[in-house]
Amino acid sequence: MRASTFLFHRTRPRLARAALAISVATGFFCVLLAPSPRAQDQSPEQFMLSLAAAIDDSTLKPRERLGLRLFFDASLSEPAGLACASCHDPRRAFTGNNNTMIGVALGSRTDQFGTRDAPTIMYLATTPRFSRNGGIESDGKRVPVGGHFWDGRADTLEEQAKQPLFNPVEMNNSEIKLLIAKVAKAAYAGEFRKEWGDAIFADPEAALDAVGASIAAFERTRVFQPFTSKFDYVMRGEATFTEQEQRGLSLFTIRQKGNCAQCHTVDTASRDPQKSLFTDFSYRALGLPRSPRIPKNADPAFVDLGLCERVPVAGVKPGTPAANPAVTDPATCGLFKTPTLRNITITAPYMHNGLFDHLRDAVAFYATRDTDPSRWFPEGRKFNDLPAQYRANVDVDTPPYQRRPKQRPQLNDEEIDDIVAFLYTLTDGYRREGTGLYNKPRTEITPPRSPNSSSSPPASRGDY
Ligand code: HEC
Ligand code: HEC
Repeated sequence: MRASTFLFHRTRPRLARAALAISVATGFFCVLLAPSPRAQDQSPEQFMLSLAAAIDDSTLKPRERLGLRLFFDASLSEPAGLACASCHDPRRAFTGNNNTMIGVALGSRTDQFGTRDAPTIMYLATTPRFSRNGGIESDGKRVPVGGHFWDGRADTLEEQAKQPLFNPVEMNNSEIKLLIAKVAKAAYAGEFRKEWGDAIFADPEAALDAVGASIAAFERTRVFQPFTSKFDYVMRGEATFTEQEQRGLSLFTIRQKGNCAQCHTVDTASRDPQKSLFTDFSYRALGLPRSPRIPKNADPAFVDLGLCERVPVAGVKPGTPAANPAVTDPATCGLFKTPTLRNITITAPYMHNGLFDHLRDAVAFYATRDTDPSRWFPEGRKFNDLPAQYRANVDVDTPPYQRRPKQRPQLNDEEIDDIVAFLYTLTDGYRREGTGLYNKPRTEITPPRSPNSSSSPPASRGDY
């Protein structure tokens, strides 16, 4: 599905409705037709083990290795068949939506879709806890920051890891006891006891905490934060940007051009790439168009309000893990967390609603959201995925959002290309030696099927 999905202004309302129906239907169609990512004779469990085997675990400590085993265990879902890695595939910088093509993930049951795109879970190790006012802008304004998920409803990786196990549209376990019984039967149950104590399985709550802590320990290893992109090599003085990449970096940082770095933090003065995580963990309302391919969006009454609502893990039985409560301030409706842009070229689709298949479209949206709204919104009705009373929450003052209709776009075509070229330097594995990364030498795995699998910036300029 290309950017043309967004060209509603060329269709009349009735046609637009039909197009919407077709898009939703096509979304399902893609799911049904999606070729199996694994060999026919392989069970999901075996396939996950083969993905896990490609990770260099030689430097992992026992608890981290246990986390790896849990992360790739497809027997923990209800019904069995779905692992964390099904939606967080290491070949796609730990994204993938369980191989759907509609921008949101498919759960363990064949007809249960979520409402958000699975973000990369790389470079999260230093995420601060959620704080309502913890971010300070250059003008002194305070913004919410921190936490996990698009809406920050978990404070730590430990707490986060428990939620998907019980979320009915993800791994769908109904009770802690039942989940822990599966862990107690797993091939690594002995390692689990060794790490957490012989009696651990007798106390399901404690065992669940141990599951969360083991997965979090794994997520904090270098497997998830290798810092091996071309950008990192350039920062360490071991590689140089092309002219176009250099131009892209300038446009990315200059306030009156892309101003991307205001939220997608980068510190080019530092040789330490850890200073450039490409996120400040802040929450913002970008005013994205409503995605017609999310099944739940067929219901006009359904709106994802982000921070002020915090998707409750619907249907979760009492006693399963709780989350941060929703922020009650209506000024936080429509705000979502700024994600890292590291590995962005292999993590399509983009945005919390998985709206864009092409990275170039995501960047072009910033450039022309306000100068050419009809390109993005049906009949140019801006911010159509937010109820009217919350539209004022959308940022229309910070560059690159400060333009007005009929003005020149904030970035022209060449400048968008330059930024995209720069973003291509953020993919890990630029040089492979000794990285402890997902690239164990001589491991052959079928390349992932990605909605955007091109190895060079995709050209969406034809639609422009
Ligand atoms: C069915 C697909 C699916 C499965 C299975 C799944 N996730 Fe996720 N994951 C998602 C989606 C979708 C989100 C974003 C949800 C949201 O923001 O509400 C997410 C978010 C996350 C985040 C937060 C990232 C951030 O930027 O804050 C982490 C960490 C994570 N998942 C880890 C896990 C772990 C660990 C498991 C296994 C226990 C797991 N996931 C299983 C789809 C999945
Ligand atoms: C004021 C803060 C801010 C600025 C400035 C900003 N972004 Fe973002 N960016 C965000 C937020 C917040 C999101 C997530 C929005 C959502 O999904 O609702 C995001 C999402 C993205 C995504 C999708 C990431 C993913 O994993 O899905 C890309 C790509 C991106 N931004 C690139 C850029 C570029 C390029 C620029 C400069 C032209 C830029 N951003 C400027 C805050 C910002």
